[in-house]
Amino acid sequence: MTTVNRPPMPPKEFIFGHARQLRGDSMNYEREITRTYGDFVHLKFFNRYDAYVINHPDDAHQVLVTEARKFNKAPIYKLMLSTFLGDGLLVSDGDFWRRQRKLAQPAFHSRRIDSYAETMVSFTERLLNEYQPGETRDINADMMRLTLNIVSKTLFDTELESEAARINTALTTLLHITTEWARSPLTMLPIIRDLPKPMDFRRDKAVADLDAIIQRIIDERRKSKDDRGDLLSMLLLAQDEDGSQMTDKQVRDEAVTLVLAGHETTANALTWTWYLLAQHPEIEAALHAELDEVLAGRSPTLADLPRLQYTEMVVKEAMRMYPPAPSVGRQAIEDVQIGDYLLPKDTLVMIHPHLIHRDPRWWDDPDRFMPERFSPENEAKLRKYAYLPFGGGPRICIGNSFAMMEAVLLLATIAQHYTLELVPGQTITPVAEITLRPHPNIMMTVHERVPETTASAH
Ligand code: HEM
Repeated sequence: MTTVNRPPMPPKEFIFGHARQLRGDSMNYEREITRTYGDFVHLKFFNRYDAYVINHPDDAHQVLVTEARKFNKAPIYKLMLSTFLGDGLLVSDGDFWRRQRKLAQPAFHSRRIDSYAETMVSFTERLLNEYQPGETRDINADMMRLTLNIVSKTLFDTELESEAARINTALTTLLHITTEWARSPLTMLPIIRDLPKPMDFRRDKAVADLDAIIQRIIDERRKSKDDRGDLLSMLLLAQDEDGSQMTDKQVRDEAVTLVLAGHETTANALTWTWYLLAQHPEIEAALHAELDEVLAGRSPTLADLPRLQYTEMVVKEAMRMYPPAPSVGRQAIEDVQIGDYLLPKDTLVMIHPHLIHRDPRWWDDPDRFMPERFSPENEAKLRKYAYLPFGGGPRICIGNSFAMMEAVLLLATIAQHYTLELVPGQTITPVAEITLRPHPNIMMTVHERVPETTASAH
């Protein structure tokens, strides 16, 4: 194995380096450069910061798993998110992150999250009550509202719709501002980044609103001291080995992180699933056949999950084609050898599931929607780290079981009673904005379907 200084670099601009290409149609650019330059590509931001795009599953495995301790999260996530996520799990690093992860982990044990299945289904049925057969709906907005209500309920056990609605409003404003901010290449430049902007005031107000609501919920909960079975109780009750607990600020940061990380990704996974199903009637028919056989018209429960195997395969395949977290970023905290290259300290590393998931070296006919890839026999044969919708290693998504359970239950509940048809004439493009969103939002017409029960089938 040879150790070379730097991987190949595509042509760059005088001042920006490659920053502008990555803020424009970043996904196409990333695809092009890896096709042209291979599995390691060297990029520059403002001729100052070095970034490597890493596109081989073995190298991704090294970064995320075997050499994980030599990396921190990429600073761009902190820049964008820490104003409202504080030091939450998504952005923290080092010993602080390790302690917080250990404290939060029990909240995601299967016994705990199993109890959320009912909430997931009943909130979905509540949404379906709004549906009028034949009407057109913005399916992304529906999925976003649904998953946000579910995560607020499972996290805070708040019965107050108005409180959940206020959390939603503040978070939506914050996401909107973050996206606006992330679209401008100038935000990479520290001097410009730190100048006061009108959006800062809107952001500060939204953060203050969010904090006030969450602090009130924490105060009430600390007073009553009971375990309500929700994630917040777990965070408040969690104790370190030395008996110490999280401060209010730490609980607040983790709670906001979980609300944010816990809804948008799952909503996008489902939105893309509807989009794909609408274009593949034979796969939709196979899904309906499973739902009718397993559920026969009744609401799904936790106990049905093992038998909703095809439903799960559909979700997994949709996340292969449209990974809700399209990119994962790290920064080397010391020199580290990855594959054939020595990465100097501070090098940024970008791993793009949206590329690895469509690489013909690991996937036959990669642009084809084929849930069979995830049948138990086929899944066992998949190349390691060629499928990484939840990342991997110590920083793997803490909510992955929660998310899979939620996506399968929501898909089963809705698909049982409705088919969703794409409004003709829409051109939908996936856009990577931290999460992989459709642009513009996907409009779909809802048609009622009557589940075939055993009785009606005979
Ligand atoms: C389909 C849905 C989801 C997808 C695709 C997804 C994807 C990811 C990915 C790729 C990461 C790792 C990022 C990195 O390594 O830099 C991550 C981290 C994380 N996710 Fe998820 N996620 C989903 C749902 C959820 C849910 C439901 C929750 C919580 C209720 C959640 C909470 C988190 C948290 C807290 C982290 C940070 C973990 C850490 O660094 O210790 N996610 N997620």
